[in-house]
Amino acid sequence: MKKFILFNLVLILLSVTSVIAQKSIAHKRAEKMDLGMNLSYLDHYWSGTKSKNFSDFAKVEEANKRKKMFAGIKKAGFSTVRIPICFSAWMDLKRPYNWNNEKGLKMADNFVKWAVENDLIAIIDLHHTEFDNSIPEAKNPERTVNLWLKIAERYKNTDPEKVFFELRNEPRDITAEAWRWEAKEIMKVVRKVAPKHTLVVGFHDWNGRKAMIDSKPFEDKNIIYTFHYYDPFIFTHQGATWAGAGLPELRGVEFPDSKKSPIKTPKTAKGTWVETRINAYKKDANTKKMFTDLKEAKDWSKKHNVPIFMGEFGSYNKFASEESRCRHAKFVYTATGKLDIPSAWWEWNGGFNMFEKGTSKISKCMQEALDSYKLEKSKLKK
Ligand code: BGC
Repeated sequence: MKKFILFNLVLILLSVTSVIAQKSIAHKRAEKMDLGMNLSYLDHYWSGTKSKNFSDFAKVEEANKRKKMFAGIKKAGFSTVRIPICFSAWMDLKRPYNWNNEKGLKMADNFVKWAVENDLIAIIDLHHTEFDNSIPEAKNPERTVNLWLKIAERYKNTDPEKVFFELRNEPRDITAEAWRWEAKEIMKVVRKVAPKHTLVVGFHDWNGRKAMIDSKPFEDKNIIYTFHYYDPFIFTHQGATWAGAGLPELRGVEFPDSKKSPIKTPKTAKGTWVETRINAYKKDANTKKMFTDLKEAKDWSKKHNVPIFMGEFGSYNKFASEESRCRHAKFVYTATGKLDIPSAWWEWNGGFNMFEKGTSKISKCMQEALDSYKLEKSKLKK
């Protein structure tokens, strides 16, 4: 009998250690990401001059003001900061693709340094390579590969446990195959220079969730896969001027659906996809459906044994009510806590922030939303 018990104990021990041993580096690093925050500023290419290839968009004084924000993010309980950076504005449009703005690059270096100094995982996210699509050479894949060659060179000596490389924000106007090819080309050059850094990789169609679950992982094992989740879009982007006709005038969309009054379709939305989504809002804003969306992402990660990270979600505060924004945040944080999906809120300051109006303090109901993630995660551990 004793021998039998001992035998079983050894078996259990062996299976536990093999499960632990099976965890990839990417899995282990993803586990540490937990709650994350986007710190937007070095992506604001639109503040620059077009004839200068937007190169002058970032201002040193403005960048320096953000130093204390990294401490603020850490203090608010976040473990990760995603740093969207428009490196594209600081590199020549033509071969041999030299850097041309040391000032800009220094600001990027500082952001990464401040993140690490505050014990945050920093994601260097290549944002807006294509700008507003008005400069065709900007999104030439050969140029993007060269951008990465230079970015990897620049950050290869950072701690791979603390600094991750996100290949490209929201690839769009590109087929699944073309993006896959481009991503592989980028990986080749990055891996030569930085073999140990974890890559964060999303898929075509704006880092869409559906694009991810319709795709297969890449061969490289040190990748955390990413998707963005702004559903229901007409709620999260009501009032947004950059995301589609009809949205700038759209207001009064509550989350979940308000039983009281139907959403008024702005004239500018007639006949557009925004109108279709307004008509389908009851279905789109259904929390059961939304939970299923997120669970499908998690199921994909389990099926392929790869970690995932929801790199952007949030809601614009121009017209959405605070109550609805908090309900939306609480729903998504509860779901991602239950499903154990690390995430990064879009964004710390600016129009999607979590602050009480006119302050830089997270509002009470947003704090409750954040706490709901922690609560659900703590239940998983038991
Ligand atoms: C874009 C931002 C935008 C946000 C929400 C990000 O990926 O870079 O400019 O505000 O999505 O739409």
